[in-house]
Amino acid sequence: MNVKPDFTRSANQAATAPAYFSIHDIHAYYGESYIVQGVSFNVHEGEILALLGRNGAGKTSTLRACARVGSPELRKGEIWLDHQPLHTMNANQAAQAGLGLVPEDRRIIPGLTVEENLKLAQIAPPLGWSIERVYELFPRLGERRKQEGVTLSGGEQQMLSIARALCRDIKVLLLDEPYEGLAPVIVDEIEKTLIEVKKLGMTTVLVEQNAIRALELSDRAVILDTGGVVFDGSAAEVLADESLRAEYLAI
Ligand SMILES: Nc1ncnc2c1ncn2[C@@H]1O[C@H](COP(=O)(O)OP(=O)(O)O)[C@@H](O)[C@H]1O
Ligand SMILES: [Mg+2]
Repeated sequence: MNVKPDFTRSANQAATAPAYFSIHDIHAYYGESYIVQGVSFNVHEGEILALLGRNGAGKTSTLRACARVGSPELRKGEIWLDHQPLHTMNANQAAQAGLGLVPEDRRIIPGLTVEENLKLAQIAPPLGWSIERVYELFPRLGERRKQEGVTLSGGEQQMLSIARALCRDIKVLLLDEPYEGLAPVIVDEIEKTLIEVKKLGMTTVLVEQNAIRALELSDRAVILDTGGVVFDGSAAEVLADESLRAEYLAI
């Protein structure tokens, strides 16, 4: 059994119960490029956390370091998910531990239908969502179950990418710019789904350039700048603080 360390003793953290998903002082490199420079934040069970910051701030790199995909390389720090030490794992193990990264490029598998994409993601025996349950949440995917995944619209591909993660019985959903390139009406639809998923108790980290929309949906926000955390607080606080938004989010 893994025992979660008591991070509450470190100098700059409040003495609260350990969080469900906890990133503690992570440092990550692309070769010799030092990119993630000591990022720490906590995500509580069932909440949506917006991870924001300008282009190049290190948001994608932070998500990738958490998912243990190998690049960037995590050289220091700890990542805990529900008492499991992700920092000791490889990408497959982290996925099995319950981390569901939905990458920016969506990665729909060519040559497979919508349903085959979902079935491939399901673990056997299926501990995750059933395909029917996925179609209840995403009726559009049900209508297009026999269509080749890569021929879907951008919004539908995003839905398929999220649905695939849900099929894996995940504990934390990491979304990298899910609204990118999508029409506002499709963003509305995806947002509604994220609200449904939250009602089911999912814990979500939402990276978005569309910061206002992300903040309106989120409980808390963390802002990154040049590989470090410059804000950690409530989403409402960021929405109310024009100078903070202007300085770090350019909105
Ligand atoms: N594969 C890579 N190799 C080297 N540097 C990279 C690589 N990917 C991203 N970077 C650099 O890391 C920094 C953070 O990038 P990224 O995490 O993608 O930021 P964000 O997602 O916040 O826009 C940027 O300076 C970017 O140029
Ligand atoms: Mg990015």
